[in-house]
Amino acid sequence: MLDRPDPDYVRMFDTTLRDGEQSPGATLTSEEKLEVARALARLGVDVLEAGFPSASPDDFDAVRSIAETIGNEHVPGRPSPEPPIICGLARAIEKDIQTAAEAIRGAKHPRIHTFLATSPIHREHKLRMSREQVLERTQKMVAFARSLCPDVEFSPEDAGRTEPEFLYEVLEAAIEAGASTLNIPDTVGYTIPDEFGALIRGIMQNVRGIDRVIVSVHCHNDLGLATANTLAGIRAGARQAEVTINGIGERAGNTSLEEIVMTLHTRHPLFKLRTGIDTTQLVRTSKLVSMRTGLVVQPNKAIVGANAFAHESGIHQDGMLKHQETYEIMRPETVGASNTLLVLGKHSGRHAFAVRLRELGHALEGEALETAFKRFKALADKKKRITDADLEAIAASEGGRGREYYTLDAVQVTCGSNGMPTATVRLVGPDGQKVTHAAIGTGPVHAVFRAIDEIISAPSELLEYSINAVTEGIDALGHASVRVRATGGGGDGRINPQHGSGGSPVFHGHAADTDVVVASTKAYLAALNRLLAAEGGRETTHEPAPSPLETASSGAAE
Ligand code: KIV
Ligand code: ZN
Repeated sequence: MLDRPDPDYVRMFDTTLRDGEQSPGATLTSEEKLEVARALARLGVDVLEAGFPSASPDDFDAVRSIAETIGNEHVPGRPSPEPPIICGLARAIEKDIQTAAEAIRGAKHPRIHTFLATSPIHREHKLRMSREQVLERTQKMVAFARSLCPDVEFSPEDAGRTEPEFLYEVLEAAIEAGASTLNIPDTVGYTIPDEFGALIRGIMQNVRGIDRVIVSVHCHNDLGLATANTLAGIRAGARQAEVTINGIGERAGNTSLEEIVMTLHTRHPLFKLRTGIDTTQLVRTSKLVSMRTGLVVQPNKAIVGANAFAHESGIHQDGMLKHQETYEIMRPETVGASNTLLVLGKHSGRHAFAVRLRELGHALEGEALETAFKRFKALADKKKRITDADLEAIAASEGGRGREYYTLDAVQVTCGSNGMPTATVRLVGPDGQKVTHAAIGTGPVHAVFRAIDEIISAPSELLEYSINAVTEGIDALGHASVRVRATGGGGDGRINPQHGSGGSPVFHGHAADTDVVVASTKAYLAALNRLLAAEGGRETTHEPAPSPLETASSGAAE
């Protein structure tokens, strides 16, 4: 935050809603901007550049509404008790600065960010201004902004291509006029890390009064060097980084927030610096920004891409199954990704294949495993995506179906808008005995799962439940998929083969039926049967069921 004196703290200045929104085709409505701003505040950004108020009346309104709401309230989940600084961009002209000041006025911590180009190419061709005129305008406009707002940031646009000696003069003028943050933009992404680091080091050493302000870096990604340049700037003394979610922005984009935050986090022993970001919200925020801007995140994008924690090569999968740190430098849960994924494809090895089959309840060994593995490899050569259904088919043909301890005899639910969803389930247990139980839930499927839990008492935790239509139309077949984690202390301390690093085995069940409740019931039972099989089976623990109504569980919400 504004007054944080900690020299080891790097402020995250998020410009997703300003520079990010300048990405071609990424225009957001005011409501969408507010939604993204709330997510950024929750994530923990220190400064939120909400827009360029003089660009259009819509921009002005969006900045004003963000200042009045997010800039004043405590967004639940935000790591800091203070709202973020709300910043409005302004060219170094009075009208822009006045408009920005008006738009951000409602925020508890407002900031005006004013900029003027300083490089020879911009001075000559765009501004048609001499060095002296640039110096004078900088001094005047920063002082004007300072008369309207106590927190002023100044950016010498295209600093990366500006003569260093002239840049020092401009920065000194801005400090004298009252700027408290000096942002050094590599506007066209031209510099390389050594150069940009040296530029910041030169500023730290040569600009009078630099110790009284925060030095910030703002790098564009035209040569794919934005993250590297920003880190070089931070190593040279910058303590604010201007970033966007997913690295969106003009042309090739800006520095990506998640890459800077996770580099400082993962390489903390090297940098010894920290940020105020809640890293576990990175993936969620990335998804929201992608959805609202329509800018799809490439699968191999660092930190938040769909493949960021996916492994396909057999050597890598084998390593991962032995120890997660062999091929992962961060835990997926640290960035809010659901889990490590071992993708079964043509590069996968026997080890990952056997583990995945076991998870699906097929304990193949010896020759059966060898034959199944050959068939899997042959299929993977022809098919891009190998699904669980493919694996089931291979395993079933090798006689590897797991034992079913409990089978469904009947399920019935009552539910509706005003009632208490109730399920009655009758299962046939390992000893052939029928057991009936009824339970109330928050919905029919919850009620069914609770009734089954009461009967089986398997030490498990439901991790995921989903239902999809597999055919079209009103009579579509529903496909239910369930994942449960064993909680009985049977964890082997390893990465789970398919789904992650929780330490305890995870079991998957799926089933299809035209009745979605029946599909869900069968999928849950399949997952629990696999869990029981992995535990080596066990004696039934149930008593013959009393009447359903006597045993109905109370309907506590999940
Ligand atoms: O890239 C740039 O120079 C900018 C400034 C307005 C900071 O976005
Ligand atoms: Zn920019």
